[in-house]
This record gives sequence, C-alpha cells and structure tokens, in this order.
Amino acid sequence: MATYINEPAHTFNEYLLIPGYSSSECRPENVSLHTPLVKFKKGESPAIELSIPMVSAIMQSVSNDTMGIALAKAGGVSFIYGSQSIESEAAMVARVKSHKAGFVPSDSNVRPDATLADILALKEKTGHSTVAVTDDGTANGKLVGIVSSRDYRVSRMQPTDKVSGFMTPLARLITAPDGTSLSEANDIIWDKKLNSLPIVAKDGRLTAFVFRKDYSEHKENPNELLDDHKRYVVGAGINSRDYKERVPALVKAGADVLCIDSSEGFSEWQKLTLEWIRKEYGDAVKVGAGNVVDREGFLFLAECGADFVKVGIGGGSICITRETKGIGRGQATSVIEVCQARDEYYRKTGVYIPVCSDGGIVYDHHITLALAMGADFVMLGRYFARFDESPSEKLLVGGTFVKEYWGEGSNRARNWQRYDFGGAGKLSFEEGVDSYVPYAGPLKENVERTCLKIKSTMCNCGAVTIAELQKKAKLTLVSATSIVEGGAHDVIRKEKTATEK
Ligand code: IMP
Repeated sequence: MATYINEPAHTFNEYLLIPGYSSSECRPENVSLHTPLVKFKKGESPAIELSIPMVSAIMQSVSNDTMGIALAKAGGVSFIYGSQSIESEAAMVARVKSHKAGFVPSDSNVRPDATLADILALKEKTGHSTVAVTDDGTANGKLVGIVSSRDYRVSRMQPTDKVSGFMTPLARLITAPDGTSLSEANDIIWDKKLNSLPIVAKDGRLTAFVFRKDYSEHKENPNELLDDHKRYVVGAGINSRDYKERVPALVKAGADVLCIDSSEGFSEWQKLTLEWIRKEYGDAVKVGAGNVVDREGFLFLAECGADFVKVGIGGGSICITRETKGIGRGQATSVIEVCQARDEYYRKTGVYIPVCSDGGIVYDHHITLALAMGADFVMLGRYFARFDESPSEKLLVGGTFVKEYWGEGSNRARNWQRYDFGGAGKLSFEEGVDSYVPYAGPLKENVERTCLKIKSTMCNCGAVTIAELQKKAKLTLVSATSIVEGGAHDVIRKEKTATEK
C-alpha cells in the first residue's frame, strides 16, 4: 500500500520567526554570515566556507564567469552551468580562476600601427580608457606603450594618426615585474601617483594591469572568497552522464567545488557518479549532490559520500515540475525534514554535511527562514538573474527594464542531462518556462542589502552566527489572513519604496 503523509507540506511564505531576547551585542555589525560549504568532521573546519550563505544556480541564465567573479567578490560561490560543452564550461571556470583579484588581464589592446580611430572605437566597445600597445596587439604581447585619455585630444588630431606617435612609450612608463604582490603594486600606484600599473614578465610580455580604482574596490569587498592562491573560489555543475570526461576537465580548470545538477537526486545515477569521483580523486574533489526533499533522500546521498546535499523539487520560480509530473514538496517542509536528518546523522557519525536550500526564495526574508530551519546556505536563480552580471539580455519591455530568465528544463535550455530519466538523450517534455524578471542593477549593492536584512533579523532572534540562529530560532506557521496582515493593508499606498519587493 502507498504511504500517505496527510500533513500538508509548507512553503517559506507560511512561516514567520518569533523574535527572541537580543542583548546589546546583537547588532548587524557583530553578525557573521560565515557558513560551511562542504562536509567536515566534528572538531575540524570545513575545507571551504562561504562568507555569505548564498550560491548562484547552475543555470544558463544565471551562472557564467562574470557572475562567478562578482559573487566570489561578494563572498558567495557561483556554480557555472553545466548545460554547455565541457570545453566551454571549463573555460568559464578557468576565466574565474585567472581573474586574480586586483590583477586584470588587459581587455583593450592595439598594435603600434593602429590609429586614433581604432583607439576611440575600442574605448566605445569596452568602456575602458587604458589601452595597452603591444607588438602583436594581444593582451600578452610585448609591451610597447600605453594610451590613456591623457595621450590624445580628439579635436586637435586626425583619426588616422598612428598610435606609435602619441602613446606613452615603454621607456617613460613605470611597470612592475611578474610576481609583484597586490600590496606592493598598490604601494607603487600610490607612491608614483599612477592610475594603472602594467605588470610585465621577464621577456617583456604584458601579464596584467593593476588599477588604482580596483584598490578601493578590493577594500570595499571585505567578504571576498579566495582560495589559498588568492584566486576567486568557483563551483561548477556536472551531470550523471558525462562525468568521466567533464569532472577531469573542470578539476584541471581549477573548479573548487562541483555539484551534480539533477532535478531528482535520490537515484543510482548519483551514487555511481559519487563513487567514481571518490575512486578517482578520494576526498580531494568536493562535490555536492541532490536534489532531495526528505530524510531518506538525504541519508542516501550522505552514505554515497556527498559533500553537501541540495534540497528542493518543484519550488523554483521557473519550475513547472509539480504541474507536469506531480512530484515535489513544499520547500520549507523539505528543508526542515532534511536538516533534522542531517543533525541526526551528525550526532551518529560526527560528520556534518551542509544542506543547501535550492529554489523558491521570493523575498529576502525567505533566506533567513531557510537558515533558521537548518539550511547552511541557499541556492538562488531568479534572485541573481536580475543583476547586471547575469549572462542574459537586459531588455525594455512595456516601459520596464527586465532581464531574461529561463529554466534548465525549458525548450530554450534543453538541459536533458538534468531531466532525462530513461536515457533518451533528449528533453522529452518541458519542466521549466522562459520568462522575464525585473532588472535590479548591480549584484554588489543588492547582495549587501539582502545580507543586512538577514543580519538584522538574526539580531531580532538574539543570534550573531548562523549556527546560533539555528539553535535559537522560534518559528511559527501563519494563517492565510495573517499573510495579508503582514503586508501594508487598508491604506491607499502613495508609492512603493525602492527596496520593497
Ligand atoms: P529560483 O531561485 O526560485 O528561480 O529557483 C532556481 C532553481 O530552480 C535552480 O537552482 C534549480 O534547482 C531549479 N530549476 C532550474 N531550472 C528549472 C526548470 O526548468 N524546471 C524546474 N526547476 C528548475
């Protein structure tokens, strides 16, 4: 006979936190949002810890290398989408890893025989005013000089004037050798009053630039997530089909953590994938698995060796899995049950396996609820798709700026490795939609505001760490009418505030 669960499964929107006692120490500036990304043994520290409890979804419309860099700067991790060729996914990972914080590969380069018109066209295209002049016009050619806006006056010159005639030549440039540390580079910039410092290898080839403006940016990102070599931390999606080829390529490209991307993870496919990774790499390669929505699913993946477990089926904003296939579970109930299983597993084995709540975050406070329910971090698609750094187009639709956002199970993404069950090698039917989300500007300011809200609520609950929140949180189910009461009601609103969602 079938098993019946007659209690309804709940969503985040059906819960609220009841404030607890907050001491005068409970201030947002005292709150730490650090949280484990991968499993660890009692008494030890996790190999990777996030500075903020947010990772970006393994989706074409969310996580590319630009998002990877921006999110690592803010303290989280992007999982580069796997529904692309192995080569291009590995190249995205490599680009995040080679984007050394503060050392920027030159993206505007010309040969000495280029013209003023070329310089102006390049400036228009990249928006950058520092152009490297190299012998072959590439980012790593031999440095011959630099053109900045101080080197030319358009009104007094001809478009055909050659760069070699007006650039600042190498002999008059201050450069630093390869191997210079970021703080040494910044000292030179300040001492010599420079806007940019070219880093040059022994053979005269340009390696990168350090820009004055990036120094202040570096200071403005105290949470940035770096590996032991001061490179940004990045994740990558894999699937349970081509892992024998994909995993080695991603590991070679420098991925810090992988995640098996599947709409339903309680399966032999995930077991086989995890077993293969452990056989080939032991514990050196970190890999999350999922998605599951109950205790059995969690315990299965824990036993298979997952480094974290992802929770959520059918709650994503672009997801139509529940309508299409009739599987899934309310996200809050899933997170609560899985986190209880995680805690039991920890008590029994001394191994703590972080839980990621994936999908269905609509309001910022849903993140705090997920953490309070036991999640260690959340994965977000819609949230990050709205920012400048997401890969999709920004469009003007009906007078409003929007960005495109499509599901991995939509015909647009055709991520059959995530959805195909029977090995048909194609997407037999859609489980996701193609949509727009309101454009919300740069990632940094949005993430900072979200984190401030999380910290503020944690203070209301008397918690200055996520672990403390999980211990102290008091959660209540709410009635449908109290949800109405929770918004502005019975007044005529004049206008919505900028931060209101
Ligand atoms: P969101 O943050 O609510 O937009 O949800 C993002 C999550 O939805 C992802 O991390 C995936 O787990 C899930 N997802 C992505 N694409 C699809 C799809 O096409 N159908 C169902 N779920 C999807």
